[in-house]
Amino acid sequence: MRRPLRILVLHGPNLQLLGQRPVAAYGRANLSAINRAIAREAQTLGVAVEVFQSNHEGEIVERIGQAYRRYGAIVINPAAYTHTSVAIRDAIEAARVPTVEVHLSNIAAREAFRHTSLIAPVCRGQISGFGLRSYLLGLRAAKALLADRAPRPRGRQPT
Ligand code: DQA
Repeated sequence: MRRPLRILVLHGPNLQLLGQRPVAAYGRANLSAINRAIAREAQTLGVAVEVFQSNHEGEIVERIGQAYRRYGAIVINPAAYTHTSVAIRDAIEAARVPTVEVHLSNIAAREAFRHTSLIAPVCRGQISGFGLRSYLLGLRAAKALLADRAPRPRGRQPT
C-alpha cells in the first residue's frame, strides 16, 4: 500500500502555553511560531501536514483512531501524557500508522518521572531535546517512513 503523503502533527496538553512555560526547558517559541516552522518544513519536504493541539486525552485518542489511511505518518508530542497515557499508547498501536514521538526538551535529562515514556515502545522512534527542531527532525523522519512499504516500481529501471 502506498502511504498518503500527508502527515498528522499532534501537540499534547499545555503546549498552547509555550512562550510562557519555562524557557530553559522549552525555549521561547510559542505554538504559532512552531506551527509556522512546521508548515515551512513541510513545504520544503513536499508533504502536506495537518496540525492539531488538544489538552484532552480523548480528543488525541480520537484523532489517532481516525488516522488509518488518512495519513501516511504521525508526529506526536504527547507532552505530559507521554508519561501517563495508556490510552494514547494503545491508540497508536492500533492505528497502524508509523509514528514519531518528539519532545522539545531532553526528557532523559530531566526529572525522573519524565524518563519513562509509555508512548515510545509503539513509536518508530523518538526525537527529544532539540527544541523546535525536534518537530522538524520528526517531520523528516516521518517523511522517510512514508516510503516504507511503497510498491516496487514496475518494469525496468533506468540504469
Ligand atoms: C514535553 C516534555 C514533557 O515531559 C512535558 O510534560 C511537556 C513537554 C517536551 O516537549 O519537552 O509538556 O513533551
